[in-house]
Amino acid sequence: MTIKQVVKSAQQRLKGYENEAIFLLCEYLQKNRTWLFLNEDLDIDEKPYFQLVNRFKNGEPFEYIFEKATFWGLEFFIKKRVLIPRYDSEILLSKIIKLYEKYPCKKILEIGFGSGILSIIFAKIFNCKITACDINPTALEVAKMNAKLHKVEHLIEFKLCNFELIQEDFELIFSNPPYIKNDYKLDIWVQNEPQDSLFGGELGYEILEKIILFARNKNVRFLACEFGYDQKEIVHKILCTNNFKSHFFKDERNFDRVFVAIAKNEIFNEKIF
Ligand SMILES: C[S@@+](CC[C@H](N)C(=O)[O-])C[C@H]1O[C@@H](n2cnc3c(N)ncnc32)[C@H](O)[C@@H]1O
Repeated sequence: MTIKQVVKSAQQRLKGYENEAIFLLCEYLQKNRTWLFLNEDLDIDEKPYFQLVNRFKNGEPFEYIFEKATFWGLEFFIKKRVLIPRYDSEILLSKIIKLYEKYPCKKILEIGFGSGILSIIFAKIFNCKITACDINPTALEVAKMNAKLHKVEHLIEFKLCNFELIQEDFELIFSNPPYIKNDYKLDIWVQNEPQDSLFGGELGYEILEKIILFARNKNVRFLACEFGYDQKEIVHKILCTNNFKSHFFKDERNFDRVFVAIAKNEIFNEKIF
């Protein structure tokens, strides 16, 4: 079939996702849209392409199909059973970068590293050491590969464990934890991602609360986390009860998304944010 015929047929199969049909073809042929347009009468082997179209239609996200994801303008390896990086998490990263530029910390912990994106970019920018933990063995494999890819494997100590079992103290803890309510209905592509990376409990913020208590018991100076769009009020209350002052930040759609909390005994003469 010609490119033109292939695109038409795929777009009929993917009604409502016509752009995705083109994207899949670009990836399959390793060409861009302009090239497709200029070569629309060229014959191609359509069978492997239609297999990709069916995989996507059946709920397999692009990132799992092609085993790659982009975050912070960089490419990362990704595979099934590990959370796909989200653009929203760039807010958390940008806030901890800003914080660290003013207040460098020696002992840093990331809770729930997933594909490793946050610790890897942070370590790459500041050439600093980080401890990072996660309970998912596939995440450990993927994060180690990504750390190697970005040449920071000597800077990050990846631990396969529940954060609550970590004994050391830290100055800065950051996390994008699971925070979605257990009964939230996910779309078919998100349903294919690991549920224990997404769901935080009946209320959604149970793991966030445990992280805040953990951070207080570790006497951290700073704690920075991503959270759900409707959790600001409760998260603020938990932070206050645990002796943190907090700054909240919104995403591009104006949803509350990230907090940076500072232990109340920390006194600064200048504004941090
Ligand atoms: C929302 S994902 C974030 C992954 C990655 N940091 C990112 O931003 O793309 C949350 C991660 O926390 C991990 N996790 C869940 N419970 C945990 C726990 N008790 N201790 C450590 N990691 C945990 C999950 O396995 C998952 O990889």
